[in-house]
Amino acid sequence: MCGIVGYVGHRPALDVVLDGLRRLEYRGYDSAGVAVLTGADGLAVERRAGRLANLEARLDEVGREAFAGTTGMGHTRWATHGPPVDRNSHPHRDGRGRVAVVHNGIIENFAALRRELEGAGVEFSSDTDTETVAHLVARAYDGVDGGDTEGDLPASLRAVCRRLDGAFTLVVTHVDEPDRIVAARRSSPLVVGIGSGEMFLASDVAAFIEHTREAVELGQDQVVTITRDGYEVTDLHGEPSRVRAFTVDWDLSAAEKGGHEYFMLKEIEEQPEALANTLRGHFVDGRIVLDEQRLTDQDLRDVDKVFVVACGTAYHSAMVAKYAIEHWCRLPVEVELASEFRYRDPVLDRDTLVVAVSQSGETADTLEAVRHARGQKARVLAVCNTNGAQIPRESDAVLYTHAGPEIGVASTKTFLAQIAANYLVGLALAQARGTKYPDEVAREFNELAAMPSAVRQVLGTVETARRVAASLADAKAVLFLGRHVGYPVALEGALKLKELAYMHAEGFAAGELKHGPIALIEEELPVVVVMPSPKGRAVLHAKLVSNISEIQARGARTIVIAEEGDETVRPFADSLIEVPAVPTLLQPLVSTVPLQVLAAEIARARGYDVDKPRNLAKSVTVE
Ligand code: F6R
Repeated sequence: MCGIVGYVGHRPALDVVLDGLRRLEYRGYDSAGVAVLTGADGLAVERRAGRLANLEARLDEVGREAFAGTTGMGHTRWATHGPPVDRNSHPHRDGRGRVAVVHNGIIENFAALRRELEGAGVEFSSDTDTETVAHLVARAYDGVDGGDTEGDLPASLRAVCRRLDGAFTLVVTHVDEPDRIVAARRSSPLVVGIGSGEMFLASDVAAFIEHTREAVELGQDQVVTITRDGYEVTDLHGEPSRVRAFTVDWDLSAAEKGGHEYFMLKEIEEQPEALANTLRGHFVDGRIVLDEQRLTDQDLRDVDKVFVVACGTAYHSAMVAKYAIEHWCRLPVEVELASEFRYRDPVLDRDTLVVAVSQSGETADTLEAVRHARGQKARVLAVCNTNGAQIPRESDAVLYTHAGPEIGVASTKTFLAQIAANYLVGLALAQARGTKYPDEVAREFNELAAMPSAVRQVLGTVETARRVAASLADAKAVLFLGRHVGYPVALEGALKLKELAYMHAEGFAAGELKHGPIALIEEELPVVVVMPSPKGRAVLHAKLVSNISEIQARGARTIVIAEEGDETVRPFADSLIEVPAVPTLLQPLVSTVPLQVLAAEIARARGYDVDKPRNLAKSVTVE
């Protein structure tokens, strides 16, 4: 949801900033823009609606030499206030063009601030909330409104931030300050990259990983000033503030396509590794261990109810977790869409465990759910893929999914990693509460640990899914059916198809079919069915076979994901995609993979950008 890059150093800033934006484009691709301080009172700005490529073409037209300078910043936008047109693209400037600002987030009181500024004679040139900040910083720097910020860029930004409501990462430059950039954050991400004779600012380390893996993560309401030699962090009142330094544990190759046409295709293939890395180090001396465990075993024993809150794909991983946690821990588990959670007065107290699942760790709906839960004294455990993001920072305990950077906007490897991590949470609960004996916990963990090789096996057989995809490219709609843990898999398959192929797709619990959705079945309608194991869930298997025969009798075209050797279902499958036999609770880890391939290949066949589906962004930092 908007990507931000800032640079002060010895290299041409334009090149560094554009490289960074290329790696952050997954965060938004409605427009892109850059600003470079060119010395001698110069601030060169260019911005363009649409993808980064449009901006680059424009820079070629105007001539890149106009952007010579070693201090600069850039932005890639996911539109909130104002349509994605040139005038709403960042950076935004004050009326005299001396201050430039890029912003990620939403300034909730911008309308009041704008009215105040317009009352003072300020003219606006965009519809954005961000432009108010450019005017306010310019006025603070010029001492127009009094106060002691005149000629002091960090103090000016601090004073402005104190007036802002909402979420923001702001990066600000001023023509009078060609050797430094100032930035601030509240509830939106910002990291500082520490190079040698150069410093970086970015929404995500991917932007500067090519240059340095040493980073510092800013906290809530902190303001940072970077120069080529260092950085200084204060709170909003100018008091020195502590930050957390970390070393990024993946390298540039992880953030590059590695010969694949799309990141998503590479990320689908990385799933065995994502699973293995997520499990690594969590079973030590016969015990499950979590990452930043700020909850004691006694806390876990006191839990009398679990909520798993999340959005989108992460929500589907939460649905899967419910089956395992209830089964292993004999605890009631409620799965909630994070966007609904705090609006319906859930019953929470200090014995409630809320598990917040988020790849990005910055999804606004999930973050607000976490805050609501903590406000009600519930304990919160975050399952997150992004080190030090806001959700884990505000939680009592954290379990990281070590899936590596996921650049494709549609989640793939992080879904599998989330399921594995949620299962570790379930096993940690079962272990602390004694609902499983240590040897049973060990057995479950070992079964999980065998999954990377099962997923690798599935990846070796995705050719069938590709062939099926080719035949579905012109379908109008596709239905997905599943039962038990196959139900969230069906929902995930439908979500992938909607977001990538812009096709109407619906997932149903197969048992619900006869209660209404069966009316949708017509000649040639493709219906994807996720089968349970004929041995592991024989009763459900038999019921699903009946469901398939019912829809086949009504002319639907059945595409069946079934366990290898499942002969009973074969006669009912117009297309059969086989996956290896694995324990029931682990089936989502194998049966999701062909559905990811199906969606990606249908999108490709329809000529869509698999990595950057329309209207979407990787992390959704607005409610
Ligand atoms: C779908 C997808 C989204 C995210 C959702 C939550 O492919 O990626 O549905 O799963 O926006 O995002 P995180 O996990 O970052 O909270």
